[in-house]
Amino acid sequence: MSDLFAAQVHGTRTRLGRHACVLHGFALPVAAELLAGVEVVSAAAPFRHLVTPGGHAMSVAMTNCGSLGWCSDRRGYRYDPRDPGTCRRWPAMPQAFLRLAADAADAAGFADYRPDACLINRYAPGTRLTLHQDRDESDHVAPIVSVSLGLPATFLFGGFARGDKTVRVPVAHGDVVVWGGVDRMRFHGVLPVRDGMHPLLGAQRINLTFRKAT
Ligand code: SIN
Ligand code: FE2
Repeated sequence: MSDLFAAQVHGTRTRLGRHACVLHGFALPVAAELLAGVEVVSAAAPFRHLVTPGGHAMSVAMTNCGSLGWCSDRRGYRYDPRDPGTCRRWPAMPQAFLRLAADAADAAGFADYRPDACLINRYAPGTRLTLHQDRDESDHVAPIVSVSLGLPATFLFGGFARGDKTVRVPVAHGDVVVWGGVDRMRFHGVLPVRDGMHPLLGAQRINLTFRKAT
């Protein structure tokens, strides 16, 4: 998809770095399909609060789809082909997920993107994700495609050290943030989600994070 076409069809973009941008409203045309996919996935692999290696339950509830799923427990962080909760393989990535991830990556300048992992985060009001780098993947160049659905939030996008200055990026229902290449290892996080009521999702924010784990 050419940049001009993407801009006309899906609205504006904000540049966050040489290889990082926000595609405002990019997922809006397929939001209902994505939410139907979340229903299917979470029926087979329910949302749960993972435990950090330090022994704390994460406030954000998570599940996965794709050939690999991101997991955390007392032993550490890892990608697992099976859901440790059910011992079954993670549900396949819905076609609508794969298409949206590839189209968004393409619009951001990353052709032929085929993620093998999709983490689904569910934020209740008040929950947050502290600054972190996505570093459990073997590919540290392929982009991360992050789709916001439901309640709005403030995404923090920083530098390559935890203490570096961050920019605050408002993300709303249908926005997609893409970062890869030279920006792939930037620290990022989400400020506590403010209370509210979204017409489609009620009092929650859902985020789909696509990654190439292997
Ligand atoms: C993440 O970093 O895994 C999720 C970011 C988000 O929820 O926007
Ligand atoms: Fe992340």
